[in-house]
Amino acid sequence: MRTETPPLIRLEEYRPSDYLIDRVDLDIRLDPHAARIDATLALRPNPAGVAGAPLNLDGDDLRLVSAALDGAPLSPDAYTVSPAGLSLLTPPRQPFSLRLVTEIDPTANTKLMGLYRSNGVYCTQCEADGFRRITYFLDRPDVMAVYTTRIEADRTEAPVLLGNGNRIEAGPVGADRHFAVWHDPHPKPAYLFALVGGRLGKVETQFTTAEGRAVTCAVYVEPGKESRADYALDAVIRSMQWDETAFGRAYDLDVFNVVAVSDFNMGAMENKGLNIFNDKYVLASPETATDGDYAAIEAIIAHEYFHNWSGNRVTCRDWFQLCLKEGLTVFRDQEFSSDMRSRPVHRIAEVRSLRARQFPEDAGPLRHPVRPRAYAEINNFYTATVYDKGAEIVRMLRTLIGAPAFRAGMDRYFADNDGRAATVEDFLAAFTAVTGRDLTDFARWYERPGTPRLSVTGRYDPQAARYTLRLAQSLPGEGGQDGAPLVIPVALGLVGSAGPLEAATSAQVREGVFVLDRSEAEIVFGGVTEEPVPSVLRDFSAPVRLDLALTDAQRMRLLAQDSDPFNRWQAAQDVALRLILKPDAGRMEAFAEALGRFLDGEALADPAFAALVLALPSEGEAADALPADVDPDAIHQARVALRADLGRSLRPRLERIDAALAPVPGAPYSPDAASAGRRALRNAALDLIAAGDPAAGAAWAAERLAGATNMTDRLAALATLALIPGETREAALADFAARYADEPLVLDKWFAIQAQIPEAGTLERITRLQDHPAFTLTNPNRVRALIGSFAFGNPTQFARPDGAGFACVARTVAALDPTNPQVAARLLTAFGSWRRLEKSRSAKAAEMLNGIKAIRGLSRDTADILARTLE
Ligand code: PHE
Ligand code: ZN
Repeated sequence: MRTETPPLIRLEEYRPSDYLIDRVDLDIRLDPHAARIDATLALRPNPAGVAGAPLNLDGDDLRLVSAALDGAPLSPDAYTVSPAGLSLLTPPRQPFSLRLVTEIDPTANTKLMGLYRSNGVYCTQCEADGFRRITYFLDRPDVMAVYTTRIEADRTEAPVLLGNGNRIEAGPVGADRHFAVWHDPHPKPAYLFALVGGRLGKVETQFTTAEGRAVTCAVYVEPGKESRADYALDAVIRSMQWDETAFGRAYDLDVFNVVAVSDFNMGAMENKGLNIFNDKYVLASPETATDGDYAAIEAIIAHEYFHNWSGNRVTCRDWFQLCLKEGLTVFRDQEFSSDMRSRPVHRIAEVRSLRARQFPEDAGPLRHPVRPRAYAEINNFYTATVYDKGAEIVRMLRTLIGAPAFRAGMDRYFADNDGRAATVEDFLAAFTAVTGRDLTDFARWYERPGTPRLSVTGRYDPQAARYTLRLAQSLPGEGGQDGAPLVIPVALGLVGSAGPLEAATSAQVREGVFVLDRSEAEIVFGGVTEEPVPSVLRDFSAPVRLDLALTDAQRMRLLAQDSDPFNRWQAAQDVALRLILKPDAGRMEAFAEALGRFLDGEALADPAFAALVLALPSEGEAADALPADVDPDAIHQARVALRADLGRSLRPRLERIDAALAPVPGAPYSPDAASAGRRALRNAALDLIAAGDPAAGAAWAAERLAGATNMTDRLAALATLALIPGETREAALADFAARYADEPLVLDKWFAIQAQIPEAGTLERITRLQDHPAFTLTNPNRVRALIGSFAFGNPTQFARPDGAGFACVARTVAALDPTNPQVAARLLTAFGSWRRLEKSRSAKAAEMLNGIKAIRGLSRDTADILARTLE
């Protein structure tokens, strides 16, 4: 008896709703176990729908208390109802009102979808389809209504009551209770509804928009943690400012609220005027947050804020269009972070994360188009492909049409679609409208799964001073046949012995970009006076895998001479990757020398960039580069050996860097990019020294740990130490745990570091940590920190040959599935690359997956991932 494969919803089957909802009036009485939702829906037949069709409202786990149509109780034969839906069999042909009272138990809501309680705070999560867990509704994004929400609660339990839009009324109810009424004038889909009720502290400030609107911005957190919300609030203000200058988008309500909650399935949610955040992406202090945390907070605050236009004012017609808001908004937050920090450094970080998460997804059984054509469970499509490859498509569009036309197209998109539920076609149409350019071919990026390969070869003709580049693309389509070619913007240039060859030109290359829109093409450069090294795919101008056979010496020329920082970094990565896959002492030595020259020349001028050059490709990336039969232990050993060699060869330089970047005693911590870059390089130097000399490294890291004045340095030292078995490590771990016993978010870092130790003893350690008082399966951050870090960040131990690592993760998935299927299903995606493992390991993985399959009553979320993983 096993779980059935869940049925599919298909894009081609989209049809407009038969009914529309213009207004929603909610009266919500908060109560720990019996919250009452009194909803009045102003409905009307949709002229675009089927006249006289039954009205089928969605529901999930609901209990109906009463129902009335136009003020009169519904007669029992007029409707059917279950926890999963309510149908009116013959609805009126004119506008009508439906009043529905439901009752729900927020405390029992462990799925964290709908109305639930997190640390005693009432909050909601409605994307993608959580509103139907609050009341019966047409829970689809193309049904947009104006909401007025009255919230009533116990005054001591929930002194703060927040909703979407502006607060229009508030006051006492009897002695113990109070209420607030919130009105959101902007029509919105139900997935953007939110409310919060609880005991919360806040920081707030004023912002005046370019249109002259005074906006009160506030960040709400657990009382006592207000000072940790300052950075998030500052990021809100900077986001508002930036969206005005970069995209001409101003905020449109009188208040903008952000609330941090500790139990949250995702990162954060863009509910209209009331963004709800995983507290991990709000709370920051130098003592508890790393530079990486600060950067993530800034990016996610910006992301959710930018959704106010790309997502909320213009929303999605259906969930197949998810990339319309997510890919675009990721692109926007990446641009913001690039402007706030170092653009090249940020670009490298984006590509690293794309390669770490999206490339493997696109190469495995969970691959799907950026705009999927079918889904069983939409919650499983909040993926790296939709988000990050979706953002790359927007970036390519800008590269193709140029920044000014891109901005004009964005303006057009917002103007034409404001207040509407739009599609990818609507998005592209705006750019066609302003440029006259047909984007039909370009649109294939949304439809074709998989990462294209771009093969490039070069030929130099010294007599003619000519250099010819041959480019060919391939992306096996359905059935393995090559589909129609994609439109690939390839930024490129030629680099000579003393730097870029500015005199070398080709009529086919405009502003440094060649557009490959056929399967193959040749580019001819004239005026090439010496044999150049081609620098191809500069700034990672397209999400493809580049095959370009260069020698190490040629790559080192790019590292030293290219004008494109991305390709300079990429050159070092390519050499290192080859050394991991095929160790070679002689080439290693030459690489170390080149790195040494690079460090001497410019490490201190741009420490953040230098830190990225020193960070070798991950084990996952090395695995991804292999055709099949992946042996994680072999990769791990090769990478450890390379790092040890580099650490020894570069040691004097690394020590000089360390000394040069030592913080001024007593200087206050600042999370700005330049300071973070100095810390990153200094910590990378220490880590590499320790790789070459573990004994000295351990002592040094322990000393660093003791003297650390901020979490960035403390955690970096702990991570270095974690790779060196021994007493020092165990003492440091114990000390860290004692110091942060009352800081769950810091203990998550402690869980994560231990879960990633690449040693056989780690599994036992995890078993112990599962019993740690701070660990609980009910909090998604804890699960991700301990089990997620193990499954996604410890390739040798997760894929232990004896299958015990797989078993540990499989057990967690099974234990979590009944209470929080979304988080369970996400964890299960760690098995996504199982077929690429060498045979004995993949057999163990299959065994575990089939074990999960045998479980009765799996959630749709988990059953869907499982079915596709095993397909
Ligand atoms: N829409 C959220 C974002 O900004 C992500 C999210 C999806 C959050 C589903 C909760 C539930 O990307
Ligand atoms: Zn988003």
